[in-house]
Amino acid sequence: MITVIGSLNYDLVTFSPRCPRAGETLQGEQLEEHLGGKGLNEAIATARLSVAKGHVRMWGNVGDDEHGRKMVAALTEAGVDTGLVSVLPGVSSGSATIIVETESGENRIIIIPGANGELKPSDEQLAANFKDSQPGDFVVLQNEFPGVRKVIEWLHANKPDVSVVYNPSPVRDELLDPELLNKVAYLVVNEGEAEQITGRSGGEKDLLAALHQLLPRPTLIITLGARGCIFQSGGAVESVAGVKVRNVVDTTGAGDTFLGAVVSQLYFGADLARAVEFATAAASVVIQRKGAAESIPEYSRIALRN
Ligand code: RIB
Ligand code: NA
Repeated sequence: MITVIGSLNYDLVTFSPRCPRAGETLQGEQLEEHLGGKGLNEAIATARLSVAKGHVRMWGNVGDDEHGRKMVAALTEAGVDTGLVSVLPGVSSGSATIIVETESGENRIIIIPGANGELKPSDEQLAANFKDSQPGDFVVLQNEFPGVRKVIEWLHANKPDVSVVYNPSPVRDELLDPELLNKVAYLVVNEGEAEQITGRSGGEKDLLAALHQLLPRPTLIITLGARGCIFQSGGAVESVAGVKVRNVVDTTGAGDTFLGAVVSQLYFGADLARAVEFATAAASVVIQRKGAAESIPEYSRIALRN
């Protein structure tokens, strides 16, 4: 079983040639609604990009509103078990205001946690929800809910056979703590996050070496945007080049898809190099489509070409 714990957001996306400066009013091109949230994106990516269905579940919260119902329906349609998604009365579903610059496809995001802000798993809930866990299971985490430290520490202490895959994004300084990060099995960060964790800057190889020295336990992946990624498991350092893309439309959800794709490959026995290559290809599809969750491709689309 793969369990994704985290956020579900309703994304309100404005496509504009550029971002306004302070005090400036700008005419954009389009306003769209999409489904997102790093947790939901990861869950849908993991399910869609798996060779077989029926082994992904999501643990999260939505409000008792239309947005929440749409997000739960989208998860179900992708084959994600939503038995652990709670509907909270009196609080709104999480949302994100996103500006996508149409020239580059780059985004800027402001999230309002809403129901995600209430996701604080207790010892009792963790024990109940992981009572049937098995060696080889995975848990996927990001920083869009308050209980992430608790989940990492609890799993480390109680379920050492479960592999925790963690993307500490959006960055919360108190969570860039080496003692905490060393408790996960896989750590996926971008260059900026790697620099913050290590307090170093420089080339990606130096950064990876510094990260490995600080965090000897996890398998480390540093994503490099269009340049692909560099990764290290045990001693060996490897890299995968980025996929050349002619038209970047909307990068939203690319990182989450990368994470979900890596996990879906590892879960079914791929080695790390294969998993990372597959994930790089999957993320390159996402950046050529609008929206987050809606832009995530199916397994067959990636597997046939790679
Ligand atoms: O990583 C992309 C996601 O970040 C968006 O879908 C938005 O909801 C924010 O959570
Ligand atoms: Na996208």
